[in-house]
Amino acid sequence: MTLIKQAEKIIFNTIKELGYEITEVTLHLSEHPQYGQFQFNGVMSLAKFAKKNPVIIANEIVEKLKYEKIFKNLNVAGPGFINISFSNEALAEYVNELNNDILNNVEKPEAKKIIIDYGGPNVAKTLHVGHLRSANIGDGLKHLARLLGYEVIGDAHLGDIGRQFGILIYEIKQKYPDLVYFDEKYKGEYPDYSPVTIQELNEMYPMGSKKIKENETILAEVRKITSEIMEKPGYKALWQHIISVSIPKLKEIYDELNISFDLWEGETDAYPYILELIEILKNKNLCYENNGALIVDVAKPDDKTEIPPIIIIKSDGSYLYSTTDLGTILGRMKRFNPDEIWYVVDNRQQLHIEQVFRTAVMSGIVPENVKLEYCGFGTMNGKDGKPFKTRDGDAMKLEDLLNKVYEASLERLNENITDLAERQHLAKIIGLSALKYADLVPNRNTDYVFEIDKFCNLNGKTGPYLLYSAVRVKSLLNKAGEQKINFEKYIGPSDEVESEIIIKLLLMPKILENALNLKSLNIIAEYIYTLASSYNNFYESHIILTETDKNKRGSWLVLSKVVYEVYELILNVLGMEIPDKI
Ligand code: ARG
Repeated sequence: MTLIKQAEKIIFNTIKELGYEITEVTLHLSEHPQYGQFQFNGVMSLAKFAKKNPVIIANEIVEKLKYEKIFKNLNVAGPGFINISFSNEALAEYVNELNNDILNNVEKPEAKKIIIDYGGPNVAKTLHVGHLRSANIGDGLKHLARLLGYEVIGDAHLGDIGRQFGILIYEIKQKYPDLVYFDEKYKGEYPDYSPVTIQELNEMYPMGSKKIKENETILAEVRKITSEIMEKPGYKALWQHIISVSIPKLKEIYDELNISFDLWEGETDAYPYILELIEILKNKNLCYENNGALIVDVAKPDDKTEIPPIIIIKSDGSYLYSTTDLGTILGRMKRFNPDEIWYVVDNRQQLHIEQVFRTAVMSGIVPENVKLEYCGFGTMNGKDGKPFKTRDGDAMKLEDLLNKVYEASLERLNENITDLAERQHLAKIIGLSALKYADLVPNRNTDYVFEIDKFCNLNGKTGPYLLYSAVRVKSLLNKAGEQKINFEKYIGPSDEVESEIIIKLLLMPKILENALNLKSLNIIAEYIYTLASSYNNFYESHIILTETDKNKRGSWLVLSKVVYEVYELILNVLGMEIPDKI
């Protein structure tokens, strides 16, 4: 059990033994460390209930707690706050436990099975900056939930249908009209290799998109093709080719970002569930026809803004984004039976997600005990406050953004590293950390501005600063190893600077738990920065390797190792890799 939990349990039991009603004890970090490291401020409310002066009760509690050897300096402040500090022995013992296994600092809640829907790339369209946050946040939440013992399935929920395919098939037809896919009489097998490469598709898509904006006839033709993809075998075969040549490219970029998915299912994987979905909605009398379309009312009397009905099937019989999202939920429930499904989708789609969730719950597709969670997020903006664009006004390609960051971090790289290949390798790791950290440190609901110089700075609240801090401890530990210095035992903090690190370590389990509950990585991103700052203060004011007191030196090295392991654990959750040098 983590030290804070042990303390909370002791306080809880003490209060019970004294005969007071209490449901939970939570320790908070003290704002006045001169009086105590932590504070318990639950006495006031329990005193109200007991109809007694809180200061008297607080003193009764402190009197009993004094005999617990994990505490020191217990005192009562103001209207009944209890200030609490941990004894040096308790802190030393705890750090030694962490040295044995850093996972002792991770409190695992009840294990759940969850599906996280994130990334949301669209086949045949290039990944752009708008896809970055969903991938970063979703993948980070996946790592966090796994660290805390959850079983997690991450699904990319690929946009594998829609007008982009109509455009591409149209363009392929223009360029290669004689292909067998366009021969309506053809009855044989289609080739199992694609007639077009990803490069051609990348050129065709913008070309076609431009044409449909300018030419009504082409737009009508593209619409027609789009609606016929599943019916015409030639189109369907081309559709499959387009998907199969696009996915490797998507994977390449996600690999580059250090992001992975367990499932690469698409919107069309929901198709087998749609008839059943409609059946359920009909049986529950939830859907009705409106101008030929099938819709469901999802508004509730206490809605503050208007929530319009959701369209399940369009009047021409075609499916929509909402149809596939609902079908996907039905499929996910049937196949995986998760406890929760989390959607890491841009705030601009909040209404759509809300409509989908309401329909899923009302229809019983998602039973009451299963949670649907929306993890929305703000956009990465340019200096003008609008979503980040290229100079030409298009959304910036994720690949181009990555290259920009790599270049910026290459320029800033230590000149002493001269090997070109090594420089490039390091610039990638550091550049990626700059981008990821900058993306994760703001609260996920807020927008942020892309400021490359700020993100890549080695000083300040940045990814490179964290990597730099981690590399510095790593080389300290390596040097200690080379000099065969023995470090086995932590003996407790020797001063305030050192105590501060320990307090930060004690806070880690709660930070992880809160981050999971709020589905917010920014708490963790902030936390690791404060730990790094505390450790760096210590590192700069203590000369560790040449310390003559061997016990002290060994103790400091143990602490450094524990801090390094926390860096590893948390940077891994945030999707950042620690390089060998910086
Ligand atoms: N492909 C969609 C887009 O680019 C995002 C998908 C989000 N996930 C979902 N289940 N709707 O906007």
